[in-house]
Amino acid sequence: MSNIHCGKDLTSGVIDALGFCAFTVTDDNVARLYPELTKNAYVIPAGEASKTPETLFAVLAEMSNRRIKRGDRIAAVGGGVVGDLTGLAAALYMRGVEWTSIPTSLLAMVDSGIGGKTAVDFNGIKNLVGAFHMPRDIVISCEFLKTLPEREWLCGTGELIKTCLLSKDAYALLTDKLDGFIARDDDSVFALVDECVKIKNAVVESDPEEKNLRKILNVGHTVGHALESADRYKLSHGEYVLKGMLTELAMCRDLTDEAFYDEITRLLVGFTAPPRTTGKSVCEKALSDKKNTGDTITIMLPRAAGDILDVKIERADFMRRYDDALKELKRVWTSL
Ligand code: GLY
Repeated sequence: MSNIHCGKDLTSGVIDALGFCAFTVTDDNVARLYPELTKNAYVIPAGEASKTPETLFAVLAEMSNRRIKRGDRIAAVGGGVVGDLTGLAAALYMRGVEWTSIPTSLLAMVDSGIGGKTAVDFNGIKNLVGAFHMPRDIVISCEFLKTLPEREWLCGTGELIKTCLLSKDAYALLTDKLDGFIARDDDSVFALVDECVKIKNAVVESDPEEKNLRKILNVGHTVGHALESADRYKLSHGEYVLKGMLTELAMCRDLTDEAFYDEITRLLVGFTAPPRTTGKSVCEKALSDKKNTGDTITIMLPRAAGDILDVKIERADFMRRYDDALKELKRVWTSL
């Protein structure tokens, strides 16, 4: 399991953690913004286009050239791409070396930087090749968020809201701190990040390889992933998670607590518009998702805060529910 340190400003903790690492990977955005922290780092171009076997093998070659040994530890300083790629390099190099995750984006702090899911995209499919390889240390310094671009905030917001739906207390904290979070008030942002880190870590500790409980982290992701793939990844992952949560809730409104449904739907439409993709293409993409089997699609539904239901839906029912959901969301959207 990972040791986690989370603080408003852990710059000195980041420096200490990097001191234990023989090799660091970062991207060119982070290297430009934090030259002191990334002086000897191997720098990859920022963005999903770097999450490839080619970049992975370039990182492994650099590790070999720098004579990294099995007892050495490596570090990822960056967002989801840097973390997923470096974690996989750590899993593969000499059959596994330790690694430290230092997430710099909101999405990586509350989700991808915790839990040891590592991967690269392959054969046109996101995260097709990967491994579970837990980071030894995770150092989360909210100070990094001060330089986070607007688009990246929205992306992380999707995963942050998702995580807050997994616990009653976290949901109460979300509704309490939402205005402060939107205004990027340091205390509100830290309170929510810290809460999400605790929730995500507790879930992955109890089910590291997603055999059971960890599936609750897929709230919003069935439709979210399908929209993302149907749309050819035009928007960021977190934006599709926002659309996915909004749509899945509307699809399963009959199974959801009414007051909770109204409140969370109002909250989500403040961040994203309903999708426009057809039910047929969302359904096809969802059926080809590695998490689904046969003709049945699984949705992890928050029927109330902290109460997640595993809903299995047949293809025809999925399409009917999706079309009805779009009508309902159009009504909500035009009434704003
Ligand atoms: N991002 C979902 C998980 O880590 O399981």
